[in-house]
Amino acid sequence: MEDKSHCRICGKLKEKKHIKYVNIDVYIECECERKLREEKEQADYEYAKETAIRLRNINSRLSNLGQKASFKTAKVDKYNEVAVRGGKYLLNQLLKQGGTESKNSLVLQGNRGSGKTYIACAIINDFNERYPVHEAYINQILKERKNLCYEKYFSPVKSPCKFITEMDLYVLFYEDYNYCKTESLLDEMKKAEKLLVIDDVGASNYDKNRLQTMYLNIIDYRYSQGLPLMLTTNLTKAELSDYIGDRCFDRLRSCSYFVDIVSPESRRC
Ligand SMILES: Nc1ncnc2c1ncn2[C@@H]1O[C@H](COP(=O)(O)OP(=O)(O)OP(=O)(O)O)[C@@H](O)[C@H]1O
Ligand SMILES: [Mg+2]
Ligand SMILES: [Zn+2]
Repeated sequence: MEDKSHCRICGKLKEKKHIKYVNIDVYIECECERKLREEKEQADYEYAKETAIRLRNINSRLSNLGQKASFKTAKVDKYNEVAVRGGKYLLNQLLKQGGTESKNSLVLQGNRGSGKTYIACAIINDFNERYPVHEAYINQILKERKNLCYEKYFSPVKSPCKFITEMDLYVLFYEDYNYCKTESLLDEMKKAEKLLVIDDVGASNYDKNRLQTMYLNIIDYRYSQGLPLMLTTNLTKAELSDYIGDRCFDRLRSCSYFVDIVSPESRRC
């Protein structure tokens, strides 16, 4: 049987205290045991915090490629300089606590391979790294770690920034949507607390009316709630207006900065 009367580390006899209420003796933790326990608690906490950030990033739904994007490592040149600045500006707005300004959204236009998706992903990755995770999630991970062995079975850590392509959004909107479910993935996207990125606007060849209904539904919601939005597209302003519909474009224009990236060649290698 474990000897509770002596310190496991230094072997010193521990001080005893009688608890009247339950009529038992307890041994007071030795100084070195206390130090070890606190170190372990600190290490567990650090692990939980890092895991929470990782799980939150996964919950943003970036692609594997997108998870590597960051302003810390982004190449900046004369072609994408303004767009990178626009992206960083949006990131800083999102990191601020409290309300954002009325122009809180960004539309990145530009040719194929110019780095639009990269900037959108860098905003989300850098946001997730810097924005504090709620203590409740850290406690949840500490608890789950005790009961479960694998990280993949941990409960999700909800991300306030979401990423989705137009094509996937269309499928969610028209095919996966379950009207009986209030907490659907579509709702999570539409109502993302900080930022919703819709990537590749104009890249699909779905039915135009259905696309316009989808965009109006989502963009009108975010606009009316003052929630930031980011679109990336190969379309020009006029083409975008025609594509998403002028009623929707009007809302988008009033809440967004438009930045054009024109790079002479694709950055894809
Ligand atoms: N600033 C950057 N720093 C480093 N790598 C970058 C940067 N911008 C883009 N890239 C890389 O270049 C490639 C193309 O970029 P990206 O996919 O963002 O282009 P895009 O404008 O979204 O293209 P498309 O219009 O085809 O969707 C990617 O592999 C990306 O990782
Ligand atoms: Mg792209
Ligand atoms: Zn001791």
